[in-house]
Amino acid sequence: MDFTKLIEKRRSIRKYTDENISDENIEKIVRAGLLAPSSRNLKSAEIIVIKDKDTLKKLADVKASGSAMLDGAAFAAAVIGNSEKADAWIEDCSLALIYMQLAAAEMGIGSCWIQCRGRQSKLDGISSEAFARDMLSFPEGYSLEAIIAFGISAEEKEEIRTIDENKIHFEKY
Ligand SMILES: Cc1cc2nc3c(=O)[nH]c(=O)nc-3n(C[C@H](O)[C@H](O)[C@H](O)COP(=O)(O)O)c2cc1C
Repeated sequence: MDFTKLIEKRRSIRKYTDENISDENIEKIVRAGLLAPSSRNLKSAEIIVIKDKDTLKKLADVKASGSAMLDGAAFAAAVIGNSEKADAWIEDCSLALIYMQLAAAEMGIGSCWIQCRGRQSKLDGISSEAFARDMLSFPEGYSLEAIIAFGISAEEKEEIRTIDENKIHFEKY
């Protein structure tokens, strides 16, 4: 697909059909995430793929709100960064996240970014990161940036074609 078309087509999809996504397609999406550029080429982002439906259901409580779609997703990808190794781990993870979203969109697979860094889980006083660490067992030294829910879309969304021209500045603000 033409890149401009792809950018226009990608939308946040929060409702999914029951259709599974093949391991081959999951691998293509994850590969795209790990092919993203990274600061000093340190490749600090790592990805935990979650396919187990019970785990996805429990993980839906990773945030007080805005993560419910994990219950019903075909799979999810938690993106963690080695925050001890790379000061730009947030940027590295963000690029891995958007590369995966674009790869999915190109394949006709819907997705939604679920912000976890700095957020609270549904459990009182437990951060999203602590909640996810307990479930997914990633080590200390790794920080959770976000989780992406993926699935075949069960909702219609228009393409994005408009931008705010006032946000473009030439030479000076
Ligand atoms: C950094 C970031 C964090 C986001 N966090 C959430 C989230 O926690 N839950 C959610 O439902 N959507 C989340 N989104 C999706 C945005 O709400 C969505 O991208 C925005 O409303 C624009 O819609 P679109 O993606 O369909 O163009 C997030 C997006 C970004 C880029």
